Amino acid sequence: MNLKLTAVALLSLCAGALLAYELNPSAGPASGSLEANSTGKARVGGPFSLTDHTGKRVTDQDFRGRYMLVYFGYTFCPDVCPASLQVISSALDQLGPLADNITPVFITMDPERDTPEKLSLYLKSFHPRLIGLTGTQAEIASALKAYRVYAKKVPDEQDPKNYTMDHSSVVYLMGHGGDLVTFVADSTKLDALVGQLRKALTDKR
Ligand code: NI
Repeated sequence: MNLKLTAVALLSLCAGALLAYELNPSAGPASGSLEANSTGKARVGGPFSLTDHTGKRVTDQDFRGRYMLVYFGYTFCPDVCPASLQVISSALDQLGPLADNITPVFITMDPERDTPEKLSLYLKSFHPRLIGLTGTQAEIASALKAYRVYAKKVPDEQDPKNYTMDHSSVVYLMGHGGDLVTFVADSTKLDALVGQLRKALTDKR
């Protein structure tokens, strides 16, 4: 059983490292920069159509003209997701007025359990400007794919009806046009996130 858990953890680490490498081969796993493919388009992100925590339908177009800070997780997560949302909330506070133009977005990878109501209740524990997004299985699957997020259900051996999600944990900063500006592969490192966001937001672009 331990071996199995180790394998899952390694797989998760690999997914994160691979993503970091694909996005920015020259940088370490905890940093990123604007990277585009040969056609000049960012390789992460894209159109989505989802439902927010108030029950309103939204698309990626609704976030245009602002920065969007995107994190994928699920509300039943016992550790990494709440830690990351805490770090994101603190980062926004530390950035002060620089963060005014950022919309923080939490997209669930567990739409089965994360209804708009559940998201709304959950997000009260974090930054007041956080927007929660959920959708149908197909809508979420499409968003996960667009952002290259790894997420896999892991059934609870004691209680087969219960499950956790094994998942990558990356924070993406998307630009005014929906393009990837930068990402932080370790979502639980506050200093790294603040530093990278500050740099991205103050750089002449
Ligand atoms: Ni999590």
